[in-house]
Amino acid sequence: MNDSTLETTTIRVWDWPVRVFHWSLALCVFIAYFTGESERYSWLHQTLGYAAAGLIAFRLVWGAVGTRYARFQAFVRGPQAVWAYLKSIRQGHAQHHVGHNPVGGVAVLLLMGLVVLTALSGWVIAAGDAPGWQEELHELAANTLMMVVAVHVLGVVLSSRLHRENLVLAMLSGFKQGHAHQGIARSWWVLGLLLLLALAAFVLSQLPL
Ligand code: HEM
Ligand code: HEM
Repeated sequence: MNDSTLETTTIRVWDWPVRVFHWSLALCVFIAYFTGESERYSWLHQTLGYAAAGLIAFRLVWGAVGTRYARFQAFVRGPQAVWAYLKSIRQGHAQHHVGHNPVGGVAVLLLMGLVVLTALSGWVIAAGDAPGWQEELHELAANTLMMVVAVHVLGVVLSSRLHRENLVLAMLSGFKQGHAHQGIARSWWVLGLLLLLALAAFVLSQLPL
């Protein structure tokens, strides 16, 4: 099918679980980062750190069985695809991807890996008696994560401008412009809501009373 001859319309790209995952993860990571040195909020720090790790665990499963653009298969690409994408930008005819582009795919893996490393190293410290280097590792992982987040946000802004589409709005609403056959059929809102409820229940269960 030659897509250029088809009319564009509003299509659903990101299901509810992906969107709940993304914005909850961003919130947990930001709050955890800024409560890292607080004695008073150390319960919140640890709770949101574990919540972030739990969100990644959910996303790993959803990446295997989820909707079309949520699947790792759709966006985890080899170095050749990443290189071809970068080359297409340099040559002025950037490839367009409905889901994550190949460079975005690398960023997603890096972000998820760093969240896991940060939470794991935090857990080791909290378990007690950790040698000093483990605190250093936790701090290094958290700071590296924030640097990759900054690059991630820059990439989102640049990619939005390059393709004249608002990627942030799409991650909020789930919709983009595209060809009808490219859209996903179901939004999986019940699963998204369950994920949100599970997260809220976990945080509430950790409130220091
Ligand atoms: C701690 C902060 C953040 C983390 C850890 C993070 C992580 C991620 C991850 C893992 C994904 C992949 C989503 C998936 O496939 O499930 C993603 C995608 C995305 N993020 Fe973030 N993110 C953060 C902050 C932000 C912020 C502040 C923005 C807004 C500018 C943003 C905008 C987006 C967008 C638009 C996408 C989809 C990109 C695309 O269309 O390919 N993120 N992010
Ligand atoms: C994505 C999740 C997380 C982020 C972004 C994060 C970030 C940070 C940051 C920035 C600090 C301050 C480091 C410093 O300057 O000394 C810190 C300290 C700490 N974090 Fe986390 N953290 C996360 C998850 C966790 C988890 C899951 C736990 C444990 C359950 C944890 C336990 C601790 C402890 C005990 C400290 C104090 C270490 C010390 O005394 O130096 N963190 N964290």
